Parts: sequence; structure tokens; C-alpha cells
Amino acid sequence: MNSVAAVAHPNIALIKYWGKRDEALHLPMTTSVSLTLREFPTTTTVTVRPDLAADRVTFAGAPAPEAFAERVSRFLDLVRELSRDRRHTAVDTVNTVPTGAGLASSAAGFAALALAAATAYGLDPDPRALSRLARRGSGSASRSIFGGFAVWWRGAGDGESGDLSSFAEPIDAPLLNPALVVALVDTREKAVPSREAMRRTVATSPFYPAWVEESARDLDRMRRALGEGDLATVGEIAEANALGMHATMLGARPAVRYFAPGTFRVLDRVLELRAAGIGAWATMDAGPNVKVLCDSRDSAAVAAAVAEVAGGAERVVVTTAGPGAALSGSGHR
Ligand code: DP6
Repeated sequence: MNSVAAVAHPNIALIKYWGKRDEALHLPMTTSVSLTLREFPTTTTVTVRPDLAADRVTFAGAPAPEAFAERVSRFLDLVRELSRDRRHTAVDTVNTVPTGAGLASSAAGFAALALAAATAYGLDPDPRALSRLARRGSGSASRSIFGGFAVWWRGAGDGESGDLSSFAEPIDAPLLNPALVVALVDTREKAVPSREAMRRTVATSPFYPAWVEESARDLDRMRRALGEGDLATVGEIAEANALGMHATMLGARPAVRYFAPGTFRVLDRVLELRAAGIGAWATMDAGPNVKVLCDSRDSAAVAAAVAEVAGGAERVVVTTAGPGAALSGSGHR
């Protein structure tokens, strides 16, 4: 049987994706910018199995939760439609990132699945088409196709025109040597899944349109700063954009709040680091954990400072820029 394995890494957005204009095609309201990490790879193996009457989805060999299996199977329907191949598959995913904790496990997972499934079904997509395909699994997965910094374009229009123009591509930032210090404040499954939180924010938060407008300005300034190697400006924009995103959620009805007590302690420590002259800027996703952007040279000092308030060194992971999605071996079994 033809088995294809692919590996991909999570990415952390510096300009966030928060809100869809098309729920079915995963077309975002805004363009986002991210950094793909070297840590927490996800490996997904896809085996096309003519003998199966339905897809079989496992997590490291054990049956996956039903909702996840269903989501993977819908994604595979798309691959089957594109390849005109109706066979089912066995999909096994090995995650090294805690799921559901705002550390973007779905980005790495669907980027790896998109590459493995597209290859197993003989699609051979170019990077742009692969990014568009990964987007259909999870929006942020479009960016994990690429290593380093990436921009995921909002795209123009709706329907097919939106689908064709909403993809990620790499951003060159040769002067930067970034690190992200991840402070694991709480790794339990989040109370409100990001998909639901996003939907509720767009539908009910009076602050949401203002954040969307500001995000377009953030994008222009961020791209310039990345090109110029100006980490301080990149960090300032990233922190403001993330806190602004959380402000839109606090304005939703009912409110969505991902901050935990430990989150505030880490955010305070980041302010103290800056006051002491160390370049460190915080960003947060759909969870209480804080990711601190800094120069690689400062990452040990930042990690030590953050560990003091995050509950110890084992709660802190230092990461740097990592690679895009890649095949990790294929063969006939
Ligand atoms: C807060 O990509 O997980 O991490 O497209 O609904 O699967 P779906 O959402 P997802 O959302 C990520 C949201 C975020 C910000 C970001 O990564 O840009």
C-alpha cells in the first residue's frame, strides 16, 4: 500500500487571523503574518486503502476523537474531489504540541495532512496550491506550508476568486534572527474552541471592525519592518495586534476570555524586560499561553525571566524559526 508521511511545524501569527468572511472556504477577513517554529513538529501519515469503506483516523495509533476524525474526513473529501479518486485512507497523526492550548496544533496538523494527502492522491500541487488546500483544513495551516516568516493574503472577492487569491507565501527577512519564548501557562483544553470564538466575535463584538481596519495598517508597517530587520517595530506591532484581537473577544456577547492569572504575570514580566532594555514583545492566541518574541541572542535571558513567573523552567520552551512542510518519507508497504 502506498504510504506518504509529511512533517510540518506550528506557526505563531504576529498579525493575527481572527474572523472569516466565508466559513466554507475559510476566507479570512484580514491578511495575517506569522513565524513558523522549529519546535513541536506534527507528522502525518496517509495510506490510501481501497479496502476501507470509510476513512480511519488515529492519533499515534489510537482512535482520534470523533469530531476531529470527521473534520479530517471532510478535508479528505476535498482531496478526493480534486484527484477524482474515491478511495478511503488511514490517517495517523503524531503531535508533539499539546492540543487545544492555543499553540496552533491544527496549523501544523493540516499543513502536514495537506502535503501527505495531496501526494498520496497524486495531486502534486505547487506551493501556492498546497497552501490554499491546507487553508481548507484550518486557516492558519496555509502559513505552515512555509518556513520562517509568511504572509497569508486575505484574497480578493468571494467564491472562486477569493479561493484562488487567498494563500500564503514566504516573506524574506534576512536581517532578523528571531526567537519565540513560549510560556506554557496552562495546557488544558481551552473552554471555547477558536472557531466558535472567532464566529462569535465577528457576529457580536462592536470592537471587531476597528481591529480589522487597524490590522491593514499593521500589515504595511510590519512588512516594511521585516524587510528592514527592525525587530522592535515588528514586536510592537505584533503585541498591539494580538492584544487588540483579545480586546475584540472581550467585547463579544457573551465575552470570550482566554487570559488566565498566569497570563498577566508573564505579560507584566515582558513589560519589565523592556523597561530593563531587553527587546521582548508578547503575543497570544486562542489560549492563555504567552509567546514572547525576541532576538535569538536574548532568548536565554528572556526564558529565565519568564520562567520565574510561569511556574518554572519546564513551563518555558525556546523556539526559533523553523522549516516549511516537507515529505518525511514515502514507500510501499
Ligand atoms: C488565534 O486557523 O485554528 O491562532 O481556520 O477556524 O481552523 P480555523 O482557525 P485557526 O485559527 C487560528 C487563530 C489564531 C490566530 C492565527 O493563528 O492567526
